[in-house]
Amino acid sequence: MRIVLMGMPGVGKGTQAERLRVEFGVPHISTGDILRDAVREGSALGRRVKATLDAGELVSDELMQALIRERLGRPDARGGFLLDGYPRTAEQLAALDAILGALSLRLDAVLLLTASEAEILRRLGGRRICSGCAAVYHVDDHPPAAPGVCDRCGAALVQREDDTERVIRARLQLYRSRTQPVADAYRQRGALHEIDAAGDPAGVFARLRRALGRT
Ligand code: AP5
Repeated sequence: MRIVLMGMPGVGKGTQAERLRVEFGVPHISTGDILRDAVREGSALGRRVKATLDAGELVSDELMQALIRERLGRPDARGGFLLDGYPRTAEQLAALDAILGALSLRLDAVLLLTASEAEILRRLGGRRICSGCAAVYHVDDHPPAAPGVCDRCGAALVQREDDTERVIRARLQLYRSRTQPVADAYRQRGALHEIDAAGDPAGVFARLRRALGRT
């Protein structure tokens, strides 16, 4: 399976990608996770992109293209992949088409998760991530057993730098202006499956499975 997973910031792409990864046995390639890992490690890439991530702006198309070409060229992506967070601009869409064309690969599905803006603000406002292992929680919907402490590794839970209300609104605006046209282009190609992401994660996953032809 070669899948692109799209949707507004905080709609639940990472949450569903983890379930899809297990179901289909393909690597979950999240550009946001790759960039945040680089920041956490303090690598040259991380130092270059930290301010952009914190402001909720987009990293340059050139840098993202190089990153994705390298990642899709790795052996573990030969049998399929789940792309989360790429492509996000018309330029990235063209770049992905070229990368896949060069590898003689085609996408099987593009999945677009949808939810109301009020629900997006609620999900992002309540999101907490583990400062140690990056596990994702929500203060109301998916709280840890002990407040502020990761169930998995015991490290402290924190808010992402880009989850303040001001930065969330900037990210939503960028989504509408730069990423919505990418979804529209996939729709015109007849490749887009729109999935209602309201309700609990298990229900959303059931809809995703059905869209992918699993019973
Ligand atoms: P990225 O990490 O891709 O951020 P995003 O698209 O804004 O998405 P999020 O990670 O915020 O949300 P999500 O949809 O994964 O939701 P989640 O599952 O966590 O990108 C970050 C930054 O990197 C960008 O701003 C940019 O700077 C840069 N970047 C990345 N890709 C780039 C590219 N291609 N080009 C240029 N720059 C790029 O869920 C959110 C919360 O809701 C959680 O708390 C979760 O527990 C909860 N939740 C999830 N599902 C449900 C549900 N069904 N019901 C209730 N709560 C739920």
